[in-house]
Amino acid sequence: MLLSLFLLSFGALICGALNQGGDDSLLVNTIVAKNNISMAECWKIEPGFQLSNVSGTVGDKVLQLGNMNNALYIIIPDDDGKPNNGGLHNGAHSQWVFALTGGVNVTFPEAPGGFSVSAGGLFISTDVLGTSTLGHQSIWAAGSIFIQAPFPDGVAIGHTVIANHSCEKNY
Ligand SMILES: *[C@@H]1O[C@H](CO)[C@@H](O)[C@H](O)[C@H]1NC(C)=O
Ligand SMILES: *[C@@H]1O[C@H](CO)[C@@H](O)[C@H](O)[C@H]1NC(C)=O
Ligand SMILES: *[C@@H]1O[C@H](CO)[C@@H](O)[C@H](O)[C@H]1NC(C)=O
Ligand SMILES: *[C@@H]1O[C@H](CO)[C@@H](O)[C@H](O)[C@H]1NC(C)=O
Repeated sequence: MLLSLFLLSFGALICGALNQGGDDSLLVNTIVAKNNISMAECWKIEPGFQLSNVSGTVGDKVLQLGNMNNALYIIIPDDDGKPNNGGLHNGAHSQWVFALTGGVNVTFPEAPGGFSVSAGGLFISTDVLGTSTLGHQSIWAAGSIFIQAPFPDGVAIGHTVIANHSCEKNY
């Protein structure tokens, strides 16, 4: 419950940075698998922002992030400042990933493009085992703290695919 409330405000905070279209919602970098190959898509979360009527956040922009199952708070070892490369892997679950501190670079062994998420940003990962042969690579900054929040039953949040590549063009 607390996590959901926190995430609602959190989503509103980064909207300015990610909302590129006329329709008001969050654009989220998403790892998807097509024909066994992991790659990026840009998802627009549906439905979009509403104005809150809830005491404490009245007038703030809020976005429903849906239910989450057994979310994990994860601390990457500081490791003398060395970035943490988990190697090629599939997503553990179809899930949200919220970077609280630090940041991550995501790349794909068999597809062009990739994306970076810095502290306060988020992405979605859906290339679970069986959907992608090699998966993806995530290199997290040493000491990063992030939350993995699986979608219930692996069913992704409502969205529209607005691009067959990442939302940012930083690779
Ligand atoms: C993905 O790879 C597996 C194992 O090699 C294979 O059985 C399956 O048919 C492949 N699926 C697609 C959509 O290519
Ligand atoms: C706030 O109230 C209005 C009017 O009842 C409603 O249309 C809107 O959906 C409400 N916003 C939220 C976030 O529930
Ligand atoms: C991610 O990539 C950027 C740009 O190349 C680089 O400056 C940054 O150090 C990288 N971060 C990690 C954790 O590897
Ligand atoms: C994504 O690619 C598919 C075919 O690979 C195409 O049908 C679809 O229109 C593309 N979507 C966007 C948003 O570019």
